[in-house]
Amino acid sequence: MTELIHHVRELTRLSGVRRALVPTMGALHQGHLDLVNAAREKVGPTGEVVLSIFVNPTQFGDPADLEKYPRTLETDLEKCEAQGVDVVFAPTVGEMYPEGIGSPHSISVQPGPLGSVLEGADRPGHFAGVLTVVCKFLNIAQPNCAFFGEKDYQQLTLISQMVQQLNFPVDIVGVPTRREPDGLAMSSRNAFLNSEQREQAATISRALFAAQQVQGTIREKIDTAESVLRGVGNTSYLVAMSEGLVREYDPGEVAFAGRLLYAGVLGNTRLIDNMAIGIESDT
Ligand code: PAJ
Repeated sequence: MTELIHHVRELTRLSGVRRALVPTMGALHQGHLDLVNAAREKVGPTGEVVLSIFVNPTQFGDPADLEKYPRTLETDLEKCEAQGVDVVFAPTVGEMYPEGIGSPHSISVQPGPLGSVLEGADRPGHFAGVLTVVCKFLNIAQPNCAFFGEKDYQQLTLISQMVQQLNFPVDIVGVPTRREPDGLAMSSRNAFLNSEQREQAATISRALFAAQQVQGTIREKIDTAESVLRGVGNTSYLVAMSEGLVREYDPGEVAFAGRLLYAGVLGNTRLIDNMAIGIESDT
């Protein structure tokens, strides 16, 4: 039986059992449920899996985007029940930010330079919002481990950096991206696509897979992805970054291991995806 709670004080009790946290903004799909399953595997049948559902205002730049974000608590709860989630924590905005949003007394967690590139360049302040709310959820739930999707690779990297650099006693676990049968990465935002855009959206993962598979330099791989993507949406970025998103690839490199990251807009919907990319030196 999944227990639904709304107040911070109900969750901060220390239960003594191993606890896993899965932070989400709801509108749950199979990608989220993969995180739940990974969490259950880690804590075992006697451990506690806590899933938070909170559409966090501080990570949205555009009020209209925040307003239209899907909110489906009832069906989310049914999915959590079926998946064996122990606790769903669904606080109100007032519960999470009693000092008020944008209050002059607000304290936040600021990302390092990685917070201002890629998604951070297109969405100023986004990652400060994400890190602050994740910091709060970690402090409230006090889990042993917390689960995040590779789908949001920059987010996963920044959260890992925060936990490491600020000494949070928690293991951050990354979970591979869950895709639709045609390859599109599952996302709550896919519901905003009309049928034509939905069809076009599959090109994004096809482009990344094509880059992964083509033999050649990283530049040639990116060129391949670009040519597959031609005419599809408006690309914001398509870049190869080293592991941990430390730096962009160097065209002279003969060996490289990293991530090819894409963001673009189809109609009014912003979509992101990424895949591993690499070349090995012959020697
Ligand atoms: P949300 O977009 O709801 O995603 C919650 C978690 O599910 C994130 O860790 C995300 O990477 C993961 N996820 C989303 N789609 C996935 C997919 N197709 N496959 C695997 N994992 C997937 O990301 C957020 O919420 C928020 O920024 C949050 C971390 C909750 C802070 O507010």
